[in-house]
Amino acid sequence: MLTIKPANAILGATVTGVDLNQPLSAADFGGLLRALGQYGVLCFPNQLIEAPALRDFSINFGSLQMISRLADANAPEVSILSNVVENGDYIGTPDAGQDWHTDMTYNRVPGFVNVLVAHKVPMRDGKPLGGTAFTNTQAAYDDLPSDVKTRLTNATALHDHNQFQELMRSKGSTRPAQTEAQKRSRPPVSHPVFLTHPISGRKVIYVNPGFTARINELSPEESDATLKMLYAHVMQPKYAYTHHWSVGDVLLWDHLGTWHCALADYAPNEYRLMKRCQVMADKVFDPAFLQEKLRVVA
Ligand code: SIN
Repeated sequence: MLTIKPANAILGATVTGVDLNQPLSAADFGGLLRALGQYGVLCFPNQLIEAPALRDFSINFGSLQMISRLADANAPEVSILSNVVENGDYIGTPDAGQDWHTDMTYNRVPGFVNVLVAHKVPMRDGKPLGGTAFTNTQAAYDDLPSDVKTRLTNATALHDHNQFQELMRSKGSTRPAQTEAQKRSRPPVSHPVFLTHPISGRKVIYVNPGFTARINELSPEESDATLKMLYAHVMQPKYAYTHHWSVGDVLLWDHLGTWHCALADYAPNEYRLMKRCQVMADKVFDPAFLQEKLRVVA
C-alpha cells in the first residue's frame, strides 16, 4: 500500500509501498500527484531502477524532454549527470544544476517534475555529499507583503536558457558557449511572475535566479531590484530543505512550486552518478487530466 511519510519540514516526504519497476496503479499515481502538490519533493528509497524503468515511471507525469547528448545508451530520454570519467571524458554532465534554478522555465511549456535515481553518491567521513537543496516558492509567496502581491499580480517575466549556461561558464564550467543558431532555436519566453499551482491551487513565485532575465512590465532598474528582492525573500532558510542522497533513492520533485540547486561540495575524485528524466508540464495544467487522475485517490 502506498505510504507517504512527511519529512516534517517545509518540503519533503518519503514514499514506500510502491515498486517503481512495475506500472503504477491509477490510485497510486493519483496519490503521488496529490503528494507532489503538498510536499513538493518525494523520496522513494531503495529503488535502484535502470533507465528504461525510470523513463516508464516518469512519462506518467507528462512528456519527457529529449536530451541530445550524454544520454543513457538504453533510453535516450534519460540523461546522465556525473563527474565519473571513462576513456578520458565525463560519462555525464558533471556540473548540471549547480546553482539555484527551476528546470525548463525557458520553454513555452515549462517543466513539471524531475525524476532522479542515485547510482553513486560521494561520501566523506561517513556522510553523503552532493545533496540537492530546495526552496518552497508556495510558502514564500504566502508570506510576501500584500503590496508586492498586488503590484506584481499581472506581471510577466522573461526566461532565457542561455542565461544559466553563461552563469555556469562564469563559475568555471567547461560547457561551450551557445552558438547564435542554438540561441535562436531557444528564444526567451514569458511566464507569469506569480503562477497558480495546478494541483495545490496555491500561488507560487515563478521567477528563478537561473533563467529569469527580467520582469517585462518594469524598467530594467526596477526589474533588477524587484527580482533581487524576490530572490532574497525565497532564499530565507525557513523555506529551505536539502535532500541528502543514498544510493538507490529515486527523487521526484515538483518544479512549479520549488527551486533547486545541486550542491557542489565534493571533489573530482569523489564520484556522483545520477540518472535523470525531465518531465514537461504539458498535462498537469489540463483540468480534465487532473480531475481524472485525482478522482481515483483512495
Ligand atoms: C538538476 O538540476 O536537475 C540536477 C540536480 C542534481 O543533480 O541534484
